[in-house]
Amino acid sequence: MCGIIGYVGNENAVPIIVEGLKKLEYRGYDSAGLAVYADGAFEVVKRKGRLSVLEKEIEQNPISSFIGIGHTRWATHGNPTDENAHPHLGHQSKIAVVHNGIIENYKQLSEKLTAKGIKFSSETDSEVIAQLAEYYYKGDIMETIIEVVNKLEGSYALGIMCLDEPDTLIAIKKDNPLIIGVSEHGQFIASDVPAVLKHTNKIYHLNDKEIAVLSEGAVQFYNIDKEPLQKPLETITWSSESAEKGRYPHFMLKEIMEQPKVLSDTINSVLNRGNNKTIIDNLDFSQFNKLVITACGSAYHAGVVAKNVFEQLCRITVEVELASEFRYKDAVIDDKTFVVLVSQSGETADTIAAMREAKSKGAVTLSIVNVVGSTIAKEADFCIYTAAGPEIAVASTKAFSTQLVLLYVLAIRFAVQLGKLSQGAEQQLISEIKTIPGKATDLLKQVDFIQKYAATCVGYKNVFFIGRNIDYAIALEGSLKLKEISYMHSEAYAGGELKHGTIALIEENTLVVAISTCKRLYSKIMSNVRQVISRGAKVLLIGDCSASEPSDKLSYISLPEINELFSPSLSVVVLQLFGYYVAANKGLDIDKPRNLAKCVTVE
Ligand code: AGP
Repeated sequence: MCGIIGYVGNENAVPIIVEGLKKLEYRGYDSAGLAVYADGAFEVVKRKGRLSVLEKEIEQNPISSFIGIGHTRWATHGNPTDENAHPHLGHQSKIAVVHNGIIENYKQLSEKLTAKGIKFSSETDSEVIAQLAEYYYKGDIMETIIEVVNKLEGSYALGIMCLDEPDTLIAIKKDNPLIIGVSEHGQFIASDVPAVLKHTNKIYHLNDKEIAVLSEGAVQFYNIDKEPLQKPLETITWSSESAEKGRYPHFMLKEIMEQPKVLSDTINSVLNRGNNKTIIDNLDFSQFNKLVITACGSAYHAGVVAKNVFEQLCRITVEVELASEFRYKDAVIDDKTFVVLVSQSGETADTIAAMREAKSKGAVTLSIVNVVGSTIAKEADFCIYTAAGPEIAVASTKAFSTQLVLLYVLAIRFAVQLGKLSQGAEQQLISEIKTIPGKATDLLKQVDFIQKYAATCVGYKNVFFIGRNIDYAIALEGSLKLKEISYMHSEAYAGGELKHGTIALIEENTLVVAISTCKRLYSKIMSNVRQVISRGAKVLLIGDCSASEPSDKLSYISLPEINELFSPSLSVVVLQLFGYYVAANKGLDIDKPRNLAKCVTVE
């Protein structure tokens, strides 16, 4: 995934582009670059490495213009080098392009152009777009872009400039996000709202194969047949400050700490609506005979937790599938299947493909998404938004927590519809859900203990997260949090599975994080704890610690009382803080972990 931005207006485009790229660096940070129109030619500055490298180059050699495009890269084709950085120019340096996405047929296209004598200067797939545009350009850049994108296979969000039309910035997208910001100082294109929010909160969401033509004072929209389009202007309600780190050292810590508020906002968005019906109220699950939840990464783990909740409350079998697997498995689903897609970004390629696969088989789809207007939000039959606000850190925390509460509410709703839950029981569960924000607040007060404990865990070679039933589900998320930001290897195991092989790995200098909220299995997980301690492991016990025998190998963090179906919302707060502080003690770049991007818009 990459970040693109463009500007045309009555201010200097360069600082606007650089500042915007800072807000997009979470999308990729292997290299960065920009191109501006200056004195009849394109001035292109692009450098391998973090945005700060580009910034320093520009400070040393200042440039300015009223129009420009910028890009921050997560390398897919071609290593991070200056040449492979965007923007890319055509062979005559007449057309400049920035691209987020993957052109799957770039080799066939570039071979045809090379056969005609056109020389490529990079190893990327993206350069072929600029080369094709220059090859087909006959004086109308919009016409040219339409001709080019009709030859492309794959995904793209494009910003394009042409020397012959220096006052115009063109944007078009397919399968990757692109917003258009408008203000009296100029017009913007960007991969995500935070990049322009400092300048405007008035935006348009571009849909697939719609074209935006930006000039200093106006934006026009067209469809792929060049017919003018009218689009709804949207107002972003959250502030640019909410997309800033503020007093926190990392976005991730800020977003962990924001959880009580965004949990409350999300719960209110679906429960405290008075007589206003929400989508959840209008859904009728009784017509379906199968429930599938599909997602990636943390969103998938939310689905694994939800499987426990749906199955306990609705007494139905729930299938939870990795979207990257579901999209290719020719799933046994039909119009009696209800498919829930969970995604923070709403742009994850595998989850988009899983959604389209489900719809192609007649399933009814509901998406739980955080980014308004994203592809998965728009294309699913129904969509419920988490109210987590912008989640900037690559490691998902508040979005994950808000996904959980929406899934809980959905499960309760469906259980009532299926006659498995009385009104009284429903109200009792709803009341419990409403206590989660306050209990999360109480847990966050234990941050000092977790920070101190995490500091003693930096040197461990192997870390195991164990739990049973719903605690195993949240152990998966705890393990991912630690892995993706501390680069320490860890695995999540069902406690009962240890004796089937994994316990062979337990030795001195092994760390085990055990989650024990499942009361009826408490004695079982405690026997796992004793087994691993007797083999030299150090254990952090999260949850019920009532019968834990004193041991210098055992530390524990108790959780506030709550229905165990909702306990993952509390244990995950400890797991997030644990992973965060281990990584912080290692001095790692927590918000932008190596090799990762916030939204994986490629396969
Ligand atoms: C989680 O911390 C990771 N950032 C990653 O696993 C993420 O959850 C996954 O890529 C899915 O992203 P999405 O929710 O935007 O679809």
